[in-house]
Amino acid sequence: MSNVHLIDHPLILHKLTRIRDRETGPKDFRALMDEVSLLMAYEVTRDMPLEEVEVETPICRTKAYTISGKKVGIVPILRAGLGMVNGILRLIPTAKVGHIGVYRDPETLQPVEYYCKLPGDVQERELIVIDPMLATGGSAAAAISFLKERGCTAIKLMCLLAAPEGIQRVQETHPDVGIFTAAVDERLNSHGYIIPGLGDAGDRLFGTK
Ligand code: PRP
Ligand code: URA
Repeated sequence: MSNVHLIDHPLILHKLTRIRDRETGPKDFRALMDEVSLLMAYEVTRDMPLEEVEVETPICRTKAYTISGKKVGIVPILRAGLGMVNGILRLIPTAKVGHIGVYRDPETLQPVEYYCKLPGDVQERELIVIDPMLATGGSAAAAISFLKERGCTAIKLMCLLAAPEGIQRVQETHPDVGIFTAAVDERLNSHGYIIPGLGDAGDRLFGTK
């Protein structure tokens, strides 16, 4: 699992427990997902290149660093990926946001694309595809394929929970894409839900069930 990065910082795991808890309602669920997304983004961006610059402090002139290289794009998979956008934007406020609408057909579990709006310069950006749940991996793999068809080459995937099945699917389809997750759960149930998981992320975020 060389391209899987487990971001298991104590603060993240503590908040993740509250996210998993069935008693946590949409208001707290949203706030917690927002906080965890910010904390995870810190690790996901750890390999950002730096360039040396000079800065004049009140005392003297010195060498310092700024981030260089590609600009960042965040691509939430609708709907549940929306819950992770603001946390990342608080760390990287200049990132542009593209949206890909994919839902999972409840019978076949196959991803169905229904919406796409990306920044005009998406090919030139370092993209972070976000979705809290990596279950069968169908939705994430389809969204990444969609981006590659549009010429995108630098892509990472960030989720809260991943099932081994989803990790395998993304690794097989997109071996170049790093997967960042706060936990790898046990397995999927017969309906394609992550066990133990957190239930339906979109419904819990938006209170639709
Ligand atoms: C959920 C989740 C992922 C997908 C994961 O979305 O947010 O996008 O399922 O499952 P997969 O890895 O098996 O594809 P869902 O289809 O429920 O749509 P929603 O976010 O609009 O509720
Ligand atoms: N989508 C969800 O929202 N939850 C799961 O456990 C699997 C897919």
